[in-house]
Amino acid sequence: MFAAIETSFDETGISVLTPAGKLVVSLLASQVERHQPYGGCVPELAARTHLSDLPQMWRSVDLAVIESISHFGVTAGPGLPGCLLAGVNFARGVSHALKTPLYGLNHLQGHIFSPFMPFEDYPAGRAIPYPHLALLISGGHTELFLVKSLTDITRLGQTVDDAVGELLDKVSAVLGYGYPGGAALERVALRSPDLIAGRYYGTYDLPVPMSNSPGLNFSYSGLKTAILRIIRSGDLSSDTVLDTKEHSTLLACLFDTIAESLWIKVAKAIMENKVEAITLSGGVAINSIIRQHFTAKAQDHGIALLLPAKQYCLDNSDMMAWLLKLLVESGLKPAAFDADSNWIPERQVGGH
Ligand code: KG4
Ligand code: ZN
Repeated sequence: MFAAIETSFDETGISVLTPAGKLVVSLLASQVERHQPYGGCVPELAARTHLSDLPQMWRSVDLAVIESISHFGVTAGPGLPGCLLAGVNFARGVSHALKTPLYGLNHLQGHIFSPFMPFEDYPAGRAIPYPHLALLISGGHTELFLVKSLTDITRLGQTVDDAVGELLDKVSAVLGYGYPGGAALERVALRSPDLIAGRYYGTYDLPVPMSNSPGLNFSYSGLKTAILRIIRSGDLSSDTVLDTKEHSTLLACLFDTIAESLWIKVAKAIMENKVEAITLSGGVAINSIIRQHFTAKAQDHGIALLLPAKQYCLDNSDMMAWLLKLLVESGLKPAAFDADSNWIPERQVGGH
């Protein structure tokens, strides 16, 4: 059995997966409510909460399951340094006591392989087409990867400023929908009549970021300024914000603009690389408007689009246990590692 611990940000997770791909333990303690009063994640509070939650959660795991663990994995990066250390040190202790090998796992690699996890029609997981493009969109990341194998992963582009989720969380804070904001904004946008992919594109004067720029990087700070200006009726320093009635249309337009800007770079990467499929992953990949948009565009391009089950988009340890299983089954041996807050998937465990 494959056990994994995830504490890279503000979710504490412990999962155990059978060799057949069945989750027998899937524990997730969300810290969202603790951070809400501060309008964002407070790193010190997150690290302390992992330290107190991990032992409690571990004690709730059935002893027979613990005894059947053959391989242990823990997220070693990237993430908040204190949070990573909490998980890595706990995992070191437990794996030492159980005499099981410990693997340092890359959080981004976990997201990248989450679309292939077992769910519904795929009880043992989906076949992984190589090479494929992986677009990771979350609160901390907006990155495009070329994935040639489990360990041959090249980053083709990334945001040069804000991540997509960061933009959504900021807009949510200004409109008063709280933190994190993506899900609340989606609910409001979905109130727009006849919402179909692209229907609201251009309704407001929002720039499509980096649409004419060379390369595969993304940028969301210009779009953030533009939408904040509209929300604050043209004056960024003003406290008066747009009427609530207008939020749905504006947010539908925002999601369509985001989807379009993401797709422009993916389409460019498809032209430049011969790939079998594209995937979406990360917290923002839950968004049904972005999913619809990508589904329609992928169909037009005649390329397969593989989406993760919605429960595996936000940070979770299930995807890390799945990654561990894939790594072990590919023959990868455990290597010495340290928590590394800037670890990119190009450098494999033991290679940094
Ligand atoms: O993957 P994740 O849990 O954390 C990071 O690794 O960053 O993603 C969190 C992000 C937040 O910015 C949140 O607002 C966004 O995912 N999010 C959504 C939705 N649900 C969560 N964005 C758009 N639509 C949603 N339904
Ligand atoms: Zn994440």
